[in-house]
Amino acid sequence: MIDREKSIPPDNRVIMISGASRGIGAAIAELLSSEGYLLSLGVRSPEKMDHIRKATDPEKTLVCRFEANEPMSVDNWIAQTLDHYGKLDGLINNAGILRQVSFDNGNEEDLDAMWAVNVKAPFRLIKHCLPFLRQSKHGRIINIASTDGKRYRDSVSIGYTMTKHALVSLSHAARFSGWNDGIRVTALCPGAVDTELVAHIPGVTPSSERLSPQSVASTVAFLLTLPNTASVSEIPINTRLESTL
Ligand SMILES: NC(=O)c1ccc[n+]([C@@H]2O[C@H](COP(=O)([O-])OP(=O)(O)OC[C@H]3O[C@@H](n4cnc5c(N)ncnc54)[C@H](OP(=O)(O)O)[C@@H]3O)[C@@H](O)[C@H]2O)c1
Repeated sequence: MIDREKSIPPDNRVIMISGASRGIGAAIAELLSSEGYLLSLGVRSPEKMDHIRKATDPEKTLVCRFEANEPMSVDNWIAQTLDHYGKLDGLINNAGILRQVSFDNGNEEDLDAMWAVNVKAPFRLIKHCLPFLRQSKHGRIINIASTDGKRYRDSVSIGYTMTKHALVSLSHAARFSGWNDGIRVTALCPGAVDTELVAHIPGVTPSSERLSPQSVASTVAFLLTLPNTASVSEIPINTRLESTL
């Protein structure tokens, strides 16, 4: 069968990825680099990125400082990306933190910290990337949310769940804002992924039953190939059986 909806090849497409130092972000960077994308990686410590530089094409990878708690670092990262490549085609909001905040545990500092990294920084990144993504005509935004952004499950950090629900809402808002200019936005919502983020959480899905960061990266790579006529607003990827998820 002939696919009349052409997939978009990686050639010459510039993609920003936040939190590419390890875990899911590193897996996304490695896979997209192997596919030939031009990457701009936003990380807190560019000087400690030798492992990622080795795993990506140095000719097609720019590493910039991005600290979610410093709004100016968002602006600088975008400016450096545009200076280097002259354009922008995609933004992957991946950086995130999980702290235990419930009605009985944790504190407001932890809650504020999660809002800053998981919601406010993606908001600022989207806001300031949108004008350039509009110029692309096939701009893409993929926000790494969570199944915790799709439902409330007892025992999960209430604070984390709140921020991931907000990130899903932000994804839909960006979808509406960018639609007429060819921007497509996806809230990618994985269950437990085998990374440091969940490594020490009591009661979390056992390691052998978690998603691999590479599976999440493959989903990102697939989403980036889809044409404007194939918009995917949300993708839950669950590790457990739940109604509708
Ligand atoms: N693991 C899971 O089970 C799971 C499930 C669903 C969704 N997610 C989401 O997937 C995303 C990636 O998580 P992961 O599992 O790969 O976690 P991870 O291994 O802990 O990596 C987190 C990434 O975020 C970066 N980061 C943390 N605080 C930052 C800040 N203030 N400014 C800039 N970058 C910061 C880290 O940078 P440093 O190396 O500098 O600390 C690291 O690159 C997160 O948004 C997370 O909520 C994870």
